[in-house]
Amino acid sequence: MAQEKTVTPGMHGQWSSRWAFILAATGSAVGLGNIWKFPYITGENGGGAFVLVYLFCIALIGLPIMIAEIMLGRRARMSPVNAMQALAKQEGRSPAWKILGWMGVLAGFLILSYYSVIAGWALAYIFRAASGVFSISTADGIQAMFGDFVSDPEALLAWHTIFIVMVGAVVARGVSKGLEKATKYLMPSLFILLLVLVGYAMNTDGFQQGLAFLFTPDFSKLTPAAVLTALGHAFFTLSLGMGAIMVYGSYLPKNASIAQVSLVIVIADTAVALLAGMAIFPLVFANGLEAASGPSLIFQTLPLAFGQMPMGQLFGTLFFILLVIAAWTSAISLIEPAVAWMVENHGLTRPQATFQALTVTWLVGIGTVLSFNLWDFHFSFFGQEKTNGIFDMLDLLTANIMLPLGGLLIAIFAGWKMKESHSRDELNGNRSVYEFWLFVVRWISPTLVIIVLLHLFGVLKLIGIE
Ligand code: TRP
Repeated sequence: MAQEKTVTPGMHGQWSSRWAFILAATGSAVGLGNIWKFPYITGENGGGAFVLVYLFCIALIGLPIMIAEIMLGRRARMSPVNAMQALAKQEGRSPAWKILGWMGVLAGFLILSYYSVIAGWALAYIFRAASGVFSISTADGIQAMFGDFVSDPEALLAWHTIFIVMVGAVVARGVSKGLEKATKYLMPSLFILLLVLVGYAMNTDGFQQGLAFLFTPDFSKLTPAAVLTALGHAFFTLSLGMGAIMVYGSYLPKNASIAQVSLVIVIADTAVALLAGMAIFPLVFANGLEAASGPSLIFQTLPLAFGQMPMGQLFGTLFFILLVIAAWTSAISLIEPAVAWMVENHGLTRPQATFQALTVTWLVGIGTVLSFNLWDFHFSFFGQEKTNGIFDMLDLLTANIMLPLGGLLIAIFAGWKMKESHSRDELNGNRSVYEFWLFVVRWISPTLVIIVLLHLFGVLKLIGIE
């Protein structure tokens, strides 16, 4: 049944200012990716060299593609599926470009399904921190506590459900009303608390070793899996490649400088990740823990710090509350493209669309709940042993394949398929900044992504380059 579409650009409202956008986009970018994922993948991939590749990807791929994604969103002022369709038409390109929007909607669902389970862990840890058990536990005890926790699927499912409901409560209300307020004070508080943790880490005897692990590159540890993971993480941590930043960009007022806001977001996001690393690795070494222990890393290290530091009960509780909030503001952006599209094309109200989208997400999330207990099968990814079944598969599929592919298509569209006069008009500002961006987004970012992805598919080996 064909329904008349009533999609009007800007129908979902607008941010009240440039700062509101920066806060919301930073809220989307800063999340579990920075505090939970960055440290654990850095630990799994040997430290310094991985961090360097990651920083390189942020600067040469993440920043230019963020500018491109915001630009596409603001120009179309619709959800990514319709935005890509409208832009392709405007530029006289194939309507197939809307597949990019679709892939993003799918990636958003899949990422949120596991993201929510991990956010559930952080929720549960608020109460552990508040109870004071950390101060009476040894490193072994804290490890065992985590092990017991994730081996209980019912508990994980309950926390996952609570988190999904929290996301629904905000998304149903609409992004500019629900979101703007949440981020204003909470993001800066999280930043300050991280500084406190780094301060604590400085006084442990693992600090030198932790810093050396993070910042002294040892290229012999750099495997192909590590390079691909670093690239994927650059997209993941900046919320790029699936339309989340595009949809936020579509609510951005016309007069804001896209290059400037992008730079602010990228710097803030990177700073949070590095601070998290500087808080966590010293604890790993001071307590003789395993850097490569995977997704459990922060849940085994930070409780130790909170257990030992003065006022640790208070700081620990606050920290996990802020971590949940950071995850919350990110999760919202994962589902927003799907919800905005359902409202645009299916005549649903926001609450209806939110309910349907999150029900699907919740169901898929059960796969991740089981990945840490009943169904934790192992597999190998480029020789790297993965131990958490569905969770690892979803993470690899989305972060390491779908996001880079989406980002690549965004770069190609913005750099090659869009008339220069159009992109210049959106990015109006400094001429040499524009020229530089255009060069990078045309030549550098796509080339790098293609090289890494080809590597993934083993094509380089096939044609004998390696
Ligand atoms: N960037 C968020 C984080 O680091 C996660 C996230 C939110 C995301 N929206 C996204 C990742 C869109 C990829 C795409 O925690």
